[in-house]
Amino acid sequence: MYLCPLCQTPLLLNLKQYQCTNNHSFDIAKEGYVNLLPVQQKNSKDPGDNKDMMQARRTFLQAGWYEPLAKAVADILAGINPRLLLDLGCGEGYYTGQIETALTKSQVYGVDISKTAVKWAAKAYPNINFSVASAYQLPFAEQSFDAVVRIYAPSKAEELARVIKPEGHLLTVVPGPRHLIEMKQAVYANVQLHSDAIAPITGFTHLKRERLQFQLQFKHADDVLALIQMVPLAWKFTAEQKQQFADTVPLISVDFLIDVYQKTTQLSL
Ligand SMILES: C[S@@+](CC[C@H](N)C(=O)[O-])C[C@H]1O[C@@H](n2cnc3c(N)ncnc32)[C@H](O)[C@@H]1O
Ligand SMILES: [Zn+2]
Repeated sequence: MYLCPLCQTPLLLNLKQYQCTNNHSFDIAKEGYVNLLPVQQKNSKDPGDNKDMMQARRTFLQAGWYEPLAKAVADILAGINPRLLLDLGCGEGYYTGQIETALTKSQVYGVDISKTAVKWAAKAYPNINFSVASAYQLPFAEQSFDAVVRIYAPSKAEELARVIKPEGHLLTVVPGPRHLIEMKQAVYANVQLHSDAIAPITGFTHLKRERLQFQLQFKHADDVLALIQMVPLAWKFTAEQKQQFADTVPLISVDFLIDVYQKTTQLSL
């Protein structure tokens, strides 16, 4: 499945290493993942989300607050029934794990640029094939996957079109207009709503959208603090504002837009 990130020839498994015909080799870490991110593709020493943000996200997701999203995504994917599936920008693997449990017949791959996130993911979900790599240069051959999932992560249309099979599917999750609106109201005088326009993706046709809205009823300030810490909005809050918000606003709206696209078949003229 994997391609060498240095010379793009197939990688073959040789004991605890992946090797290409040009003798580039990549060790399988003790947690079971493989690091396929060459230094040239790193834009910083430790790319991806920072550790505090990831730790907060892990605590929050593991507590099950976003389980309805995991379930909705897994249900849609079950209808597609992909044999080979990639979770792009999989983070610590929370959704990847839920999806893998729901799709018993699928072989699931997860990719993230953050080594720390992938290490945690591989430890927690041994049945999933995790690798450290960039979404902009995926270490997979053309037409590898029946479906790709992208939950709150960056991607590049050409790379998506390259690794997805003809007529394969792409499922994306982005925040909807009312997502975490109470949190925004706490720090912005004029709240800008997220757009609900459907993003065109070159090479794909949009098939359907599901909007998932629900409310989180918090009882403990610590859970609210974890939520604040895992979103980019965190830096807008002072420490005092965070605590005050966590103590007084126990009801928070969640709004997700789940879009399903299909790879467009090229018609030759
Ligand atoms: C907001 S998080 C979402 C993680 C996960 N899908 C979730 O919802 O829990 C975005 C993820 O994209 C990863 N990421 C950022 N830039 C990336 C890139 N160029 N290639 C792959 N992953 C990237 C980050 O490390 C982070 O784990
Ligand atoms: Zn190579």
